[in-house]
Amino acid sequence: MQNILKLKQEALDRLERINTPNDLDAFRVAYLGRKGKITTTLRKLKDLPLETRRTVGSEANQLKKDLEEAIEFKKKELAIEPSAPGIDITRPGKRPAVGHLHPLTKIEQEVRRIFLSMNFSVIEGPEIETEYYNFDALNIPHAHPAREAWDTFWIKSGSKKQRAGSKLLLRTHTSPMQIRYMEAHEPPFQIVVPGRTFRYEATDATHETNFYQLEGLMVGKDVSLANFKFVVEKFFREFFAGKKVNFRFVPSYYPFVEPGLDVVIKLDKGTWLEVMGAGMVHPNVFEAAHYNPREWQGFAFGVGLNRLAMIKYKIPDIRLFMSGDLRFINQF
Ligand code: DAH
Repeated sequence: MQNILKLKQEALDRLERINTPNDLDAFRVAYLGRKGKITTTLRKLKDLPLETRRTVGSEANQLKKDLEEAIEFKKKELAIEPSAPGIDITRPGKRPAVGHLHPLTKIEQEVRRIFLSMNFSVIEGPEIETEYYNFDALNIPHAHPAREAWDTFWIKSGSKKQRAGSKLLLRTHTSPMQIRYMEAHEPPFQIVVPGRTFRYEATDATHETNFYQLEGLMVGKDVSLANFKFVVEKFFREFFAGKKVNFRFVPSYYPFVEPGLDVVIKLDKGTWLEVMGAGMVHPNVFEAAHYNPREWQGFAFGVGLNRLAMIKYKIPDIRLFMSGDLRFINQF
C-alpha cells in the first residue's frame, strides 16, 4: 500500500512537469506500458495474501485509471492541433493598420536631407510673429505697398502696452527667421528654415490660408549669385532626381533682396514653372540685424513646399493637403 501511494505521488509530480507530446508518450510507456511501473505492480499482486490483495488491488487499479485520465487531459492541454475550436489557422490574417507620414512631411524631410548634405543647418522659428520681424526688419515698413502682397492674419493683442509695441500676427512667410538668426549669430553661415506659414486670403486650387515654406540664407564675405545658382541647381536636380531640369532666372521684386529674382524650372518636356523667389540680401536687412552691409553679403531664397509636393506628385489642388481626406492621404 505504501508503495502504491509513493508511486502515485511520484507519477503525478512527473506528469506536472511534462510539456511536450514526446515526453508525455515516454511517461505513458514508463508507467502504463507493458513493462511500466504500474503494470508490473499490478502483476505482482497475485503474490500477496488475499486480504491485502483486495485493498491494494483496488487502490492500484484506481491509480491506473487516474493516470490514464490525467494523461488524456495533459494530451489536450499540449495539443496545438489546428482543429482547436473557433480558430482556422489557414485563414489570411488581418493586416494591422499602420500609419504613415503626410506627403508634406515627406517633402520637408527630403528637402532637409538635401540641404544638410550641402552643409546647411536646419533652423526653425515661431509661427506667431511680430510685425517687426515679419515686415519692418525685412525692409517692408508700415504703408509700404509691398505689404499688400502678404494678406495677413493679425492677432488681437491684449494690453495697451502690447498694442503700442510690435503687433502680433501669424507669419506670412519664413523670411522673419533671417533676422532672428542673424541677430543671434555671426557670419559666415548657411541655413534653411522649413515651417508653416499663413495668409488671409480666398482659397482656390493654388491658394491656401495655411501652407509650408522653406527659407534659405547664406552669408559670407563674398557670397554671390553664382553661389546661389550652384546651390539651387544642385537642390532641384536632386529633388527631381531622374528628370532633366532646365532653369531660368527671371528678374523680380521682393523688398528684402536687391537684385531680386524668380527661379523658373522646366522638367523634361513640361512647361515652365515658377518655383522660388530669391535674391541678394538687401543692405537694409543687414542693417536691421546689425551686420555691416559693406562687410557682408549673401543670398536668400524662399520656396513653397506645397508647390514642390504638387509638382513632384502631380497634385492638382493645394486644398487637398489640409482636407484630412483619407482617400488623398493614403495615396502616399
Ligand atoms: N518670402 C517670400 C514670399 O513668401 C519668398 C522669398 C522671396 C523669400 C525672395 C526670400 C527671397 O528669401 O529672397 O513670397
